[in-house]
Amino acid sequence: MAISAIIGGQWGDEGKGKVVDLLSSNVDVVARYQGGANAGHTVYKDNQKIVLHQIPSGVMRSDCKCLLGNGMVIDPIELVKEFENVKSKGLTIDNIFISMNAHITSPIHKLIDINSENKSKNKIGTTGKGIGPTYVDKYNRKGIRACDLLDSENLKSKIEVQINRALNSQQISSNDLKSIKDELDNFFNACIIIASHITDIIPMVHGTNNLLVEGAQGTLLDIDHGTYPFVTSSNPSSGGITTGLGLPLNKIDRLIGIFKAYTTRVGNGPFPTELFDQDGEKLQNIGKEFGATTGRPRRCGWFDAPLANYSIMINGFNEITMTKLDILDEFDEIKVCTEYECNGKRSKNLSTFINQFEDIKPIYTKVPGWKCSTVGTDSFNNLPKKAQEYIQYIEQILSIPIKHISTGPKRNDMIIR
Ligand code: IMP
Repeated sequence: MAISAIIGGQWGDEGKGKVVDLLSSNVDVVARYQGGANAGHTVYKDNQKIVLHQIPSGVMRSDCKCLLGNGMVIDPIELVKEFENVKSKGLTIDNIFISMNAHITSPIHKLIDINSENKSKNKIGTTGKGIGPTYVDKYNRKGIRACDLLDSENLKSKIEVQINRALNSQQISSNDLKSIKDELDNFFNACIIIASHITDIIPMVHGTNNLLVEGAQGTLLDIDHGTYPFVTSSNPSSGGITTGLGLPLNKIDRLIGIFKAYTTRVGNGPFPTELFDQDGEKLQNIGKEFGATTGRPRRCGWFDAPLANYSIMINGFNEITMTKLDILDEFDEIKVCTEYECNGKRSKNLSTFINQFEDIKPIYTKVPGWKCSTVGTDSFNNLPKKAQEYIQYIEQILSIPIKHISTGPKRNDMIIR
């Protein structure tokens, strides 16, 4: 067996949860290494939809350990809600373990996040889940870690310090504070509930060769390699795995990039292939492109190969999984961005123009649509010829194998090549 990682190749929402669910059938451990309750991974149990935010998708298998790595930011209130949700679907939470070094998102962080967005002229369009402010405290060495939850008196005094710091720096007001009084009580209760899941997860990370690493968000939202400042505050790209889990680089055997057959983005920031016409609306409606965490409509556009080439380069992907192929079923013609043009120069890799988004013009190649349903197709040869050609064309321009193709929301709607 091998240690594999599943990573979002675009701006998140590529359908990673379903792929983790599929590939976790034989693994002992599934681990998350970054992000927090901003993620929304949709999986299905007996046709019931479950949206996971912080719990790794391995929870779908009762014998699989689910690790929340030190690189994550954990929201206890949201995690308790998720515990209740997965239990109500007949799943066990006994195998969920939280790294003692993961940082904790408090109601204060969420207030700071929302206030900062409301005041800002250049809004990021965050999920409002307190992700940025939690990572700010971490890197400012003022954070509260999961191990601090094990001593409730100490936790209370650390939260007091956090409140005073936020008041003094005018990131929150005393009225704001009054509005979250009940939430603070919920927070302390939730901390008690999740405390029994907090442990040193390093022995579990290193105690198996049969581990699946689950990324959240996507490469273009990476704080270092994404479309800064319109990014999240963690490293979703493969570099984040090693620090976020304590898993050395040379232990990871297989890096799988997940890409939608087109492109979406939620929140603000540049998006070269974004569509503002009927095709964009069609992708949004057929693809049900509404955020799993916030419900916000996702911006939609054509597949972007220069972006994908950059993502493959940054992450070192060995292979690709392409999701939501079936959403393209009804298009007469499909476009693929094969190159960018910027100030008279052309490039097939986003890295050439990473800080010049305002001036990028996508150059498209048109490919014919297949105009019939691919939903539930489970073998490549059974795909319509033109859908096969679409996949082969993208493989050719990216020079990477597309090993899995998702053809619908259900677990078995998947082609394995
Ligand atoms: P934050 O992670 O809440 O700080 O949001 C920063 C940016 O990342 C915003 O544009 C969000 O819409 C985006 N974002 C955060 N998490 C996800 C995700 O799981 N899927 C897609 N976009 C996300």
